[in-house]
Amino acid sequence: HLVSTVPPKAMMPSANCGQNGLYPGSEEGWQVYSTASDPDGRCVCTVVAPARNLCKRDPRNQQLRLLTEQVQNVSQSMEVVDLRTSRDLQYVRDSEPLLRGVDGHLHTYVASPRTLTSKTLQELKGQMSQLRPLLSVVEQYRLDLQMLATLRMELLNLSIILTAIQEEVGAYDYEELQQRVLLLETRLHSCMNKLGCGRLTAVSNPITVKSSGSRFGSWMTDAMIPSSDSRVWSMDGYYKGRRVLEYRTMGDFTKGQNFVQHLLPHPWAGTGHVVYNGSLYYNKHQSNILVQYHFRSRSVLLQRSLSGAGYNNTFPYSWGGSSDIDLMADETGLWAVYTSIPNAGNIMVSRLDPRSLEILQSWDTGFPKRSAGEAFMICGTLYVTNSHLAGAKVHFAYNTNTSSYEYTDIPFHNQYSHISMMDYNPRERALYTWNNGHQVLYNVTLFHVIQSDG
Ligand SMILES: *[C@@H]1O[C@H](CO)[C@@H](O)[C@H](O)[C@H]1NC(C)=O
Ligand SMILES: *[C@@H]1O[C@H](CO)[C@@H](O)[C@H](O)[C@H]1NC(C)=O
Ligand SMILES: *[C@@H]1O[C@H](CO)[C@@H](O)[C@H](O)[C@H]1NC(C)=O
Ligand SMILES: *[C@@H]1O[C@H](CO)[C@@H](O)[C@H](O)[C@H]1NC(C)=O
Ligand SMILES: *[C@@H]1O[C@H](CO)[C@@H](O)[C@H](O)[C@H]1NC(C)=O
Ligand SMILES: *[C@@H]1O[C@H](CO)[C@@H](O)[C@H](O)[C@H]1NC(C)=O
Repeated sequence: HLVSTVPPKAMMPSANCGQNGLYPGSEEGWQVYSTASDPDGRCVCTVVAPARNLCKRDPRNQQLRLLTEQVQNVSQSMEVVDLRTSRDLQYVRDSEPLLRGVDGHLHTYVASPRTLTSKTLQELKGQMSQLRPLLSVVEQYRLDLQMLATLRMELLNLSIILTAIQEEVGAYDYEELQQRVLLLETRLHSCMNKLGCGRLTAVSNPITVKSSGSRFGSWMTDAMIPSSDSRVWSMDGYYKGRRVLEYRTMGDFTKGQNFVQHLLPHPWAGTGHVVYNGSLYYNKHQSNILVQYHFRSRSVLLQRSLSGAGYNNTFPYSWGGSSDIDLMADETGLWAVYTSIPNAGNIMVSRLDPRSLEILQSWDTGFPKRSAGEAFMICGTLYVTNSHLAGAKVHFAYNTNTSSYEYTDIPFHNQYSHISMMDYNPRERALYTWNNGHQVLYNVTLFHVIQSDG
């Protein structure tokens, strides 16, 4: 038997929503429950509004108002059906004994027609007239069934609209979710970097990736983490260069194919350039100005003087070449290695803000720059080689975290005997070197202790 019930008023989305949030307890978005019948034989339709404040999102307001009205219409119709069916049901119940009586009489008279008297016929007619309204009840049921079919259709339409709205809500939440994922990813990366950080203990055998350019130069990949950038940049020479070659991949660099050229508006000095977060950071020729050149927009975003820093081949590494200012990046950010007259030529290391090129913090390592072959940074520790020539070793380490130094003795194979550039890429855990016109890679071994609370 078909009887219906109205969705509980508290669960109905209200047309003027906006006051004190919405309906507590429903957090899953719009839900339409419609069952054929409950244990009492009643048709139940329930619409639960989501807990989120949808009112704030204007484009959906109109749709929601329409939806609300439709739900209310369905509910009203259901109420009508409910009222009528319960009344009719009562009528049918009341008529049941009558029907049984008539049925019994008819059977008797069919079996023995003689017993049918005019009196009993009169009685039967009376009972029949009492039962006649049942016809209209049956008729009403037919109409109700049509109405129910319409209601069912409307409910179906409703659920389609609800699905559409849910998808919109889903799209909104997706962005939110994406933000959270990104944040999580960043935190994960910094955590991984901390876990993955350690003290340099060994340098692998070299692999010569390519032989190109002059004796002096630099080449690199983006040193920022995270980055999916696979481009390789090459800058030949140390004096007044302006031409940067950008290769799509390491494979293209090796084969010398698929490259574009960038012509820097200001020439460079030395080989201490670094690519970080899609920008080239370099020392402007005959100055201590640092330049940030953005590859995608092909424009200079920033110029700032590294105050006090020596330049113009005043305080180079042992090989010369205007290598006064060496920029680099490690797991912890962007750094500048240089020296100044007040520091008596000892290596200074400064943490830079990549967005402003301002110095965030500086350390005086006490190591004379003219005695250094090259320097590179790993996990906040500066490593200095004692020569650019054959037999060079990683000789000195300065830990910026503890502001302390130690002498080290980490050999590496310098097969072309003239290293004019040596930088660590934290993403690849590799040392990039330019050795006498050869582009050479080394892997590094880091020793780290992971602390546990056990
Ligand atoms: C709800 O019912 C009213 C009156 O029958 C009608 O005018 C209106 O269009 C209906 N609304 C919807 C959304 O179906
Ligand atoms: C349901 O949607 C269809 C297609 O949009 C429409 O033709 C039909 O009239 C709707 N029915 C009801 C009861 O709203
Ligand atoms: C990286 O570059 C993007 C824009 O290209 C910028 O929004 C972001 O702040 C930069 N991050 C760092 C650490 O420099
Ligand atoms: C840089 O050094 C060269 C050669 O020693 C010299 O001619 C030039 O004037 C210097 N430029 C600056 C800005 O110090
Ligand atoms: C820095 O040093 C402190 C104690 O001196 C230590 O707890 C911390 O883990 C160190 N951080 C890094 C990145 O080495
Ligand atoms: C560094 O290690 C990776 C992974 O083991 C290897 O594929 C790569 O060839 C190594 N590079 C060098 C220079 O040894």
